[in-house]
Amino acid sequence: MKIAIIGAGYVGLSTAAILANTNNTVALIDINQERLTAIKQGRSFFYEEGIDPLIAKAVSSGTLVATDEYGDNIKEADVVFSCVGTPDKQDGSSNLEYVFSVAEKSASLMKRNSIYIQKSTVPVGTGESVQERMKRPDIAYISNPEFLREGTAIEDSIYFDRVVCGGNNTQAIDTVFTLFKAIVKQSDELIEIAGLTKKDSPIPPSYLQTSLESAELIKVTANAFLALKISFANSIAKLSDEVGADILEVMNAVGLDKRIGRSFLNAGRGYGGGCFPKDVSGLISSMKQHNADPQILEAAQDVNKSMSQYIVERLEKELGNLNGKAIAVLGLSFKAGTSDVRKSPGITIANLLVERGAKVRAYDPKANDEAKHSELNPNVSIEESTENTVKEVEATLITTEWSEFKEQKATRLAQLMTGKRILFDCMNIYNPSAAETAGLQYIGIGR
Ligand code: UDX
Ligand code: UDX
Repeated sequence: MKIAIIGAGYVGLSTAAILANTNNTVALIDINQERLTAIKQGRSFFYEEGIDPLIAKAVSSGTLVATDEYGDNIKEADVVFSCVGTPDKQDGSSNLEYVFSVAEKSASLMKRNSIYIQKSTVPVGTGESVQERMKRPDIAYISNPEFLREGTAIEDSIYFDRVVCGGNNTQAIDTVFTLFKAIVKQSDELIEIAGLTKKDSPIPPSYLQTSLESAELIKVTANAFLALKISFANSIAKLSDEVGADILEVMNAVGLDKRIGRSFLNAGRGYGGGCFPKDVSGLISSMKQHNADPQILEAAQDVNKSMSQYIVERLEKELGNLNGKAIAVLGLSFKAGTSDVRKSPGITIANLLVERGAKVRAYDPKANDEAKHSELNPNVSIEESTENTVKEVEATLITTEWSEFKEQKATRLAQLMTGKRILFDCMNIYNPSAAETAGLQYIGIGR
């Protein structure tokens, strides 16, 4: 099929990399020339395992074209995907200006009876107003929310567990399902190109047709519930710190209950990224707008916001006044496996430490460059290796769960550090007794 994808971001580019390798031609449209240049060179502007070979193959075979041109790319498209940003505004609600502007622009160009797919996460009810603005009743408008996780975006795009399509045009929805069924058929080939490990018998995905409103609500509900699980784990971790319980022992046992499930109950420095923070605040504003009860999600948001402060105050209890103290922050991306630093807790914590006068050094295996262009305090010196970062510091904070940090020898850290040699494991990835034996003073979150 001839496809146009507007927005070459973490979602748009991952989607394009897959569809352009399953017998479709994809025009990937963006306004950001830097991102387009990277794609034309056959690579992604961000680190994501497996994505570059898929882009390179599709760009060299001509099935993926990165451009800033709407014109013919939209006119000839059978299907147009919208993957533009929906950043949160100051008041926490979603900024939909790009969603509206690209929809209106597409509506003025799209051919009769073509399909417009909204892949960006939008507040429930947005689809209605977008269709009103498009003034194209012949175009099938479908909400097809994205469930990929950064760091595993390609794997999640090949081995997806469900496709949700909201809308009232069943024929158009079947066409969209066909696009995803082609991915399942070619999953072995796609995994091969991406250089990722093949899943032997992946569970066949579910294809769900729902109303437009349900599809929009499914996406934000899923994300908000995952964020709620994390904040719940963090609140229990704070209690564990007070009563001497171990949060991992608690959550391992709690998670064995199939009704609860173990995943997303890992306490730490809280959630970040381009999705959870804005999806939770977006859903809270939707609830307020429609007189539903936002308290549960407001509490999840408050607990999440409190984690950085909780960590810095805990450190002050051990180190005393942080003014002039040398401290290392290992981890600037919002999670391991990605270079994305949007709403990254590691950056928030580094900035809080600088505000208290600490001399902060930071390092991330993949996110150093993006961190240099982020809200990271310029007084933080970004290092090129773990060893350089922890040399002569009194405390090392692990704020992203990169395996490079997990494999770091605790004895080596103890050798390189000085003073109290505090290892503040903000992602609970170390073994406390091993760290103590190595000569470090271990602090975890609820350990
Ligand atoms: C985005 C949304 O933020 C998210 O809510 C949704 O779930 C999927 O799409 P992401 O890909 O991470 O997620 O966003 P971002 O990296 O900001 O990519 C958006 C892209 O759209 C950017 O590259 C931006 O340049 C582009 N864009 C934005 C346009 O091409 N035209 C516009 O008018 C606005
Ligand atoms: C999330 C959803 O998982 C995905 O389905 C949706 O499409 C987009 O948003 P993403 O934000 O890329 O994906 O990463 P995710 O793995 O969900 O982690 C989000 C944040 O939560 C990260 O900062 C991570 O460190 C944190 N996290 C995750 C925890 O603190 N504890 C956990 O147990 C799990």
